[in-house]
Amino acid sequence: MSLVLGVGLRSGTPYAELHELVTTILREQPDTISLVVTVEGKEREPAVRQLVDDLGAELRTFSADELAEQRVPTPSEQVEQLKGTSSVAEAAVLATGAQLVLPKQRSSNATVALGRTPAAAGYGPGDREAVYRVIAERRDVRRGFLDLPVDDATLGRVLGAAHRAPSVGLSQPWDFLVIRHVATRRKVHELAVAQRDAFAASLPPDRRAAFDGLKIEAILDAPLNIAVTCDPGRGGRHVLGRHADPRTTMSSAAIAIQNLWLAARAEGLGVGWVSFFEPAEVAAVLDLPRHIELIGYLCVGYVDRFAPAPELVRSGWAKRRPLSWAVHHEEWGRRTASIVGDAAQAAQDVVPAAGQCVRVVVGGDAAQLQDAEVLVVDLGTDRPAGDFGVLWRAARTPAEAVEFGVEIARDLALQGVGQLVVQVVEDSERAVALARGLQVGASACGLTHSSA
Ligand SMILES: Cc1cc2nc3c(=O)[nH]c(=O)nc-3n(C[C@H](O)[C@H](O)[C@H](O)COP(=O)(O)O)c2cc1C
Repeated sequence: MSLVLGVGLRSGTPYAELHELVTTILREQPDTISLVVTVEGKEREPAVRQLVDDLGAELRTFSADELAEQRVPTPSEQVEQLKGTSSVAEAAVLATGAQLVLPKQRSSNATVALGRTPAAAGYGPGDREAVYRVIAERRDVRRGFLDLPVDDATLGRVLGAAHRAPSVGLSQPWDFLVIRHVATRRKVHELAVAQRDAFAASLPPDRRAAFDGLKIEAILDAPLNIAVTCDPGRGGRHVLGRHADPRTTMSSAAIAIQNLWLAARAEGLGVGWVSFFEPAEVAAVLDLPRHIELIGYLCVGYVDRFAPAPELVRSGWAKRRPLSWAVHHEEWGRRTASIVGDAAQAAQDVVPAAGQCVRVVVGGDAAQLQDAEVLVVDLGTDRPAGDFGVLWRAARTPAEAVEFGVEIARDLALQGVGQLVVQVVEDSERAVALARGLQVGASACGLTHSSA
């Protein structure tokens, strides 16, 4: 439950007067006021602003016309003549949808009324802003680490935030291995360098040139490394919620990392997640017990700056997906805007000037992955063996196949693809439909496309 305070007052009402009135009505109420509501214009009154600050509440206003629509228990003709509504304080409470629990109380210059909403209160605007801000300003940081120590208290707070993460059945499957020794970090670094080389060798030439300019880890630059691990069996046999989906234990550990990342950002600590590893090789270097799995390897330390956007975006390597692409309503594929319209709208943003060429083989399988430019779309009903070169899209209808085609083209555009060559090898309606979707998506995103 949370309380809503409706306020009406004359211009220049002293804060002390309003404060006393509010204190009097709050004596009987154990809950806190999360929302202060008044008529438009009064939000600029110093007494209202100070009250909102002191309560840590949110401030909302309604126009006199909106307030006039409310049926209030204590209407006033005088207020009606002055304001065009027979009530401000009570009407403001009711306009929020709250139930009135205390009708209008007055002092010489102010009136207040109190309401209650069934929903628990969120945070006030300042706190809410801080939460959204840290989410938006968290960055994966690989450059600019400073040679400054991270003290134990700060590290403790950040690890404490990680340790508060939700976890399946409260199994808390994570552990945090804090590594400062350079000798250990060197060994881990060597593993990352080897994987970096392997990845570079797998890329088409233009992509490789772009990758060469990217920094993908800061293992030796950051003063601290933290290996975040997961014990998939923690808590034994009857962990609530894990029985049907063992992946939930990994998700829990990943969420702990996100908590750590956000808290670190708030503390001014940069965090860079490195995944250029065979996890078993890192586990061997760190001498982890066999049952412990590596989830994330993090480079942590103070940095000279936090970039305003992801490094992969700033370097042109990849782009963000618009939220509207990711939200479906009631049924898979039912989005707010048409999938093609969305792609066209995002085209200016998503298409790099000179993108790589990808040959999409529709209805193929892993055997067709001869060169690095090839991407296979497998339409079969069974999940193919894992290979990122094979996209499994078991379309249930030709219409869905078209949508999948559009989606693939859009998502490739975000990953730096500028040109599509579509080759259909399966003789089916779905394969033709998916190829059509690829072409529609490609033109909507401004990719050049052709058939092979
Ligand atoms: C699971 C995971 C693994 C990642 N691995 C690497 C990595 O090996 N090297 C790297 O440079 N960035 C890595 N990143 C960071 C991403 O590139 C980064 O989160 C993304 O580009 C968005 O940027 P932002 O985190 O600054 O918003 C990883 C991120 C996650 C979540």
